[in-house]
Amino acid sequence: MSFLDELEPLKQSALADLQTAPDLAALDHAKGQWLGAQGRFTALMKQLGALPKEEKPLAGKALNAAKIDLEAALAARRVDLELKAALPKEPTDFTLPGRRRVLGKLHPLTQVTEDIVRSFRKIGFVVADGPEIEDEYHCFDALNTPADHPARDMQDTFYVNLGQASSLSSISKPEKPEAGATPALLLRTHTSSVQIRVMAKQQPPVRIIVPGRVYRRDNADATHNPTFHQIEGLYVDKGVTVGDLKGTVEFVFRELMGSDVKIRFRPHYFSYTEPSYEIDFTNALVKKMGKDWLEIAGCGMVNPTVFETVGYDPEVWTGWAFGFGIERIAMLRYGINDIRLFYENDLRFLRQF
Ligand code: DAH
Repeated sequence: MSFLDELEPLKQSALADLQTAPDLAALDHAKGQWLGAQGRFTALMKQLGALPKEEKPLAGKALNAAKIDLEAALAARRVDLELKAALPKEPTDFTLPGRRRVLGKLHPLTQVTEDIVRSFRKIGFVVADGPEIEDEYHCFDALNTPADHPARDMQDTFYVNLGQASSLSSISKPEKPEAGATPALLLRTHTSSVQIRVMAKQQPPVRIIVPGRVYRRDNADATHNPTFHQIEGLYVDKGVTVGDLKGTVEFVFRELMGSDVKIRFRPHYFSYTEPSYEIDFTNALVKKMGKDWLEIAGCGMVNPTVFETVGYDPEVWTGWAFGFGIERIAMLRYGINDIRLFYENDLRFLRQF
């Protein structure tokens, strides 16, 4: 039998061995048997030297081609077997239902805030932002709040003593700095401070809303919490009226709470507005609680003194502002009777929204 006649059947059985090896160990064994130092295919290569000179080129070529085929078959089978080894041992049932991921949700306060913001955006308001650690100037002075106003009292306001900020006890027992000393820092008691920050930076017209967190030294009970949330609104332009204010508040509350909403303005006092009002609100929900009206916000026409402070000419510009508590609205909307539920992160509560 000639060399070439011998090569072809040998190659076929080598290929068959390699291609059907049932696992990686069997494959390595087959590789040794054929291509190893003592392998049958290797032995054939060794015979090449003994061939007559004129047969060598053809035989060498055929032998090389066969070797390439065997090595390719070996590599392909190895990939297959490695993949198979990596698969789970149990058969996969592709008809099983997929695993559902548990989707998170927005906190009810965030949902209400976003709804309010969406309503105001429809009528041209943009969202503005300011720091929660404020100074007395933006929180009180520039808002025309007198130095002896009780809101500034340690009973109502958290003061921040940055000089000892590394010690936690300095935050729970701060000293209220002397008047005239370096500006006292505090946790803002309302979002009204952002009115000042925006007007100081921007010329009128201004049309902003400011959702944000505020802080007061209240003991937590069903209707109070030391941190809560407000939305401030400020509109400055020429010829702005209380009618605009009432219409705007009514529009937003009807969007938020339904078309049966009624709004009422009651005279009140805020240092940064003149005249000032408290906004009362009613709808079927309020009636169901056995009440006629619910106090929901403070508002008024921006006090000319405030305009002077920020450098707006009060003879040219008019404006209104309001601030309301988000928790109150959310409690009413969802029938929640204890404000503390918002902050406890109890999933049984949060999953309901
Ligand atoms: N800052 C007031 C509060 O926290 C709410 C408020 C009243 C905001 C009147 C205003 C306003 O902008 O004009 O109770």
